Amino acid sequence: MRRKLVVGNWKMNGSRAANAELLAGLNAAGPWTADVAVCAPFPYLGDVALSLQGGRIGWGAQDCSAHESGAFTGEVSAAMLAEFGCRFVIVGHSERRALHGESDQLVADKAKAALAHKLTPIVCVGETLAEREAGETDHVVKRQLSAVIHTLGHCVPQIVVAYEPVWAIGTGKTATPEQAQAVHALLRAQLHAATTKSDEMLILYGGSMKPDNAAQLLGQADIDGGLIGGASLKAADFAAICKAAG
Ligand code: G3H
Repeated sequence: MRRKLVVGNWKMNGSRAANAELLAGLNAAGPWTADVAVCAPFPYLGDVALSLQGGRIGWGAQDCSAHESGAFTGEVSAAMLAEFGCRFVIVGHSERRALHGESDQLVADKAKAALAHKLTPIVCVGETLAEREAGETDHVVKRQLSAVIHTLGHCVPQIVVAYEPVWAIGTGKTATPEQAQAVHALLRAQLHAATTKSDEMLILYGGSMKPDNAAQLLGQADIDGGLIGGASLKAADFAAICKAAG
């Protein structure tokens, strides 16, 4: 039995005041059976760590460098995140793939850098609307995950995978539970071919998950939690999704 994981991805949102209010709301909500974490913008991570200290909510970053250290202006290393007690780091979010040109291999290298510092990479995969309409969904997500599997080798079981259909992100268009489950099952089969621990691995769904559709999505056999964007910015909505995760 896999314990569910719900992760809030705040993206480039928030302020010190708004974050304090959101975290106070989350600290007062629950408890939940699911594991819960929030991934905040870099400047706020220290505040977030302090606000969540001693509680049950974990925290993470939204990206990390594939490099260990050096002349990489603007980048943040996995070692730096680990030094502050960071637990998760999102890698390969579609916004970074699309807006910052991140390749499958770069995403895999970031996951490797994260694992080297004992962070759990949440590796995002997902197809665009054009790719879905061209019948390429399976090919695209398998290609994206394949780069990670080949780069990580025996460390594959240490990652969390997030399936995020790009056309469902921030659009209000959610994949149906059946559509999402079909891709999750495909990803699980791919993991199964790579490791004997695939049944223990978490595959999250992300893309317009809200309080009113969370239970149905999270009720699917291979959906082990959510990566939540917009709805993670309101304590009541995020708490309701965490509750729906059981
Ligand atoms: O990382 C989160 C996803 O991009 C989902 O965002 O819940 O706003 O659609 P959303």
